[in-house]
Amino acid sequence: MEIKSFLTLEDASREDLRAVLDLARAHADGRMPGALAGKTVCLAFFEPSTRTAVSFELAAKRSGADVISLSDKGSAIAKGESLIDTVVTLDRLGADAVVLRHPAAGAAALASRHTSAPVINAGDGCGQHPTQALLDLYAMSEALGGFDELAGRRVAIVGDVLHSRVARSVIPAFKRAGMEVALVAPRTLLPPNVEAWGLPILPTLDDALDWRAEVLYMLRLQKERMTGARVPSVGEYARYYGVARRHLQSGVLVMHPGPVNRGVEISGDVVLDPGSLIPDQVAAGVCVRSAVLSVATGSAYEVAA
Ligand code: NCD
Repeated sequence: MEIKSFLTLEDASREDLRAVLDLARAHADGRMPGALAGKTVCLAFFEPSTRTAVSFELAAKRSGADVISLSDKGSAIAKGESLIDTVVTLDRLGADAVVLRHPAAGAAALASRHTSAPVINAGDGCGQHPTQALLDLYAMSEALGGFDELAGRRVAIVGDVLHSRVARSVIPAFKRAGMEVALVAPRTLLPPNVEAWGLPILPTLDDALDWRAEVLYMLRLQKERMTGARVPSVGEYARYYGVARRHLQSGVLVMHPGPVNRGVEISGDVVLDPGSLIPDQVAAGVCVRSAVLSVATGSAYEVAA
């Protein structure tokens, strides 16, 4: 496997993605017991998280690692210690991998320049969220009959692309898997340089269905990152960009990284519909993150050898 860093997936090849997903399957099937035995994984979450934090913790513990959890409130960060001093400390204390979530884009890359332990980006501001993209590929591959079945399928990324690190990671990953990607959003929720991304931009969800999207990948309206009003009203946004049951009639699949604003991105009755992969995405987080931790710490190769 060529992949060495989980700061971003922008340089990951199709074969790299396939290899991580194969390894995730091996973890899910119980073929990698104790893969992280003797390793220390530090989870440093300086921004709220439910799914990502819990699944990284389960992923590390189920594979036999010792786990240390750190948050801004309970650590010396609250006393003003810098990110760099914090990760240097974790490194010297013997962490074999540092999983970092941070509100500033570029934080994981910065931290990685000051540690010998690999830093895994668990979300950096509006930057990247590579393990989310990997678990999304895993959940889609499982639902659609395998990684090779993703090639040529159409996925629409819907909503707040402007503030979304998830979008910045899933778009290159889905393209690398051979999928056709379109964006569905009002101009106010697209980055100013979006034309450079070279993707079709569709005005509403109904246009995405006309484009024959097979997967609707919904993004949360990220109010905590908005500097001003980006949509006239939440109700109006939901009308043009929210998924309702009628959108699922053609067999289209719905995904969302969570947390969902029910009734905004997705109507409440659709979140757990059979056409929703949201629970599968959450479940995929554990085996995919076990695979990521075993690649990052070099354990994947030790177990395979
Ligand atoms: C996302 C995140 O925090 O980047 N959620 C997640 O990790 N499952 C998406 C979001 O907050 O909208």
